[in-house]
Formats: sequence, C-alpha cells, structure tokens
Amino acid sequence: MGRRALRKIDPSLDLSHHLKAFDQLPRPWDARALFGRCGSLEVEVGTGKGLFLRNAAAGRPDVDLLGIEIAQKYARFAAAALARREVKNAVVALADAPRVFRELLPDGSLAAVHVYFPDPWWKKRHQKRRVMKGPFLSDVQRTLTPGGKLHFWTDVEEYFRVSLELLARHTDLKGPLEVPETPAEHEMAYRTHFERRMRLHGEPVYRAEFRKE
Ligand SMILES: C[S@@+](CC[C@H](N)C(=O)[O-])C[C@H]1O[C@@H](n2cnc3c(N)ncnc32)[C@H](O)[C@@H]1O
Repeated sequence: MGRRALRKIDPSLDLSHHLKAFDQLPRPWDARALFGRCGSLEVEVGTGKGLFLRNAAAGRPDVDLLGIEIAQKYARFAAAALARREVKNAVVALADAPRVFRELLPDGSLAAVHVYFPDPWWKKRHQKRRVMKGPFLSDVQRTLTPGGKLHFWTDVEEYFRVSLELLARHTDLKGPLEVPETPAEHEMAYRTHFERRMRLHGEPVYRAEFRKE
C-alpha cells in the first residue's frame, strides 16, 4: 500500500494486548479473551496503517474493534499506534480476513463489518485474491447481528460494481444505502489513510452501506 517508509516502532513497546497472530485468536471464539468484556463487536478487514481502527476505538469506547491485517508490517504498525495511545477496545489480528470469518467468527456475532479500500488486484488472473468474493460475503451475512451493517468503500469503480453484484447474489443484505461524503474537519479527519490519499488527490471514492434485516 503506502509508498512512504513506515515510522519505526519503539522496541520497548509491549504489543502483546494489541497484536494477535491467527493462532493466538480464541477458539472457540470468545471476545472476552481479547477485550476483557463481551460488548458490541465490529471487525475491519484490511486495517492497513490503522487510522480507522484507532479513531473508531477512541470515538466509541463502548464498542470493541478487531482489525484484521494480513501484512505483518502494517499489522504491527497499527497495533503499535493502539499500544502507544493505550487504547483498550481495539486489537489487530495478523491474519487472512476471510479465513478468520470462515473458521472463527460465530453466527450473529458482529455489529458491523468495515471493508475500506481492499486491494483491487487489477490483473484478471489475480482477481481471485480479492476479499470481496461470494463465500466471504456469505460469511459477512452470517456473522452480522440483525440490524448489523457492512460498510464498503473503494476508489475502484469496477471493483465497486462487481462487489455490489456479488452482494446481491450471495446475501440478503439491504442496500446499497447512500453514504454522503463529509468534509474533513482536520488533517486526519478521514475514514482511513487511503480515503485521505484519494481525496487529497481529487480521486473519486465509491461508498456503500448494507444492513442485515
Ligand atoms: C489498499 S490497503 C487499504 C488499507 C486501509 N483499509 C485504508 O483504507 O487505508 C489494503 C489492505 O488490506 C490488506 N489485505 C489484503 N488482503 C487481505 C486479507 N486477505 N486479509 C487481511 N488483510 C488483507 C493489505 O495488506 C492492505 O494493508
């Protein structure tokens, strides 16, 4: 993702609460083992540098947030940002997100799923690596609570259109509901680092929200 080198992580920072490898995730699933409580749980797929995770966790202390990131350097970076701020209600899993859904997350366990700017895998032969695929979307439908939401944003129009078609085919989620663009009130007031980058470059962002009935 980002082209700039990531800031070095202070080696004395303890990441043990904020960073979990796939094998360290509780099984059977038990959110209490990660957050010390069993509150409303939201999952972010492809956390990247973690701007959404830390803003959402700080702004909504009543909610628990699990970010899933497959690249070790981003997972560590996002977890370190949480550890530095002593955020209690967010954790990063270093893992393949569709696998976490498929193997670990129980039915009706999530209040929201956030997918922001997933890798588009432009080449046709690589598109099988995309996260927004039928089986994953069926798992999103399965794991959401009634009233739970899927938030999906991307800068790639084709990926947006294809994902909306897959959502219609593989889920009964209600949507797409319109998501208006909001003005950025300060330098970092964007949903994610990628949204910030796209908007600063004047690129379009396609946003959709879906709701489980
Ligand atoms: C284009 S970046 C967007 C990051 C962030 N959501 C944002 O908007 O700034 C996509 C991220 O998804 C991660 N990713 C790709 N495939 C994944 C997978 N199967 N499971 C978890 N994370 C994944 C990548 O490593 C990368 O950090």
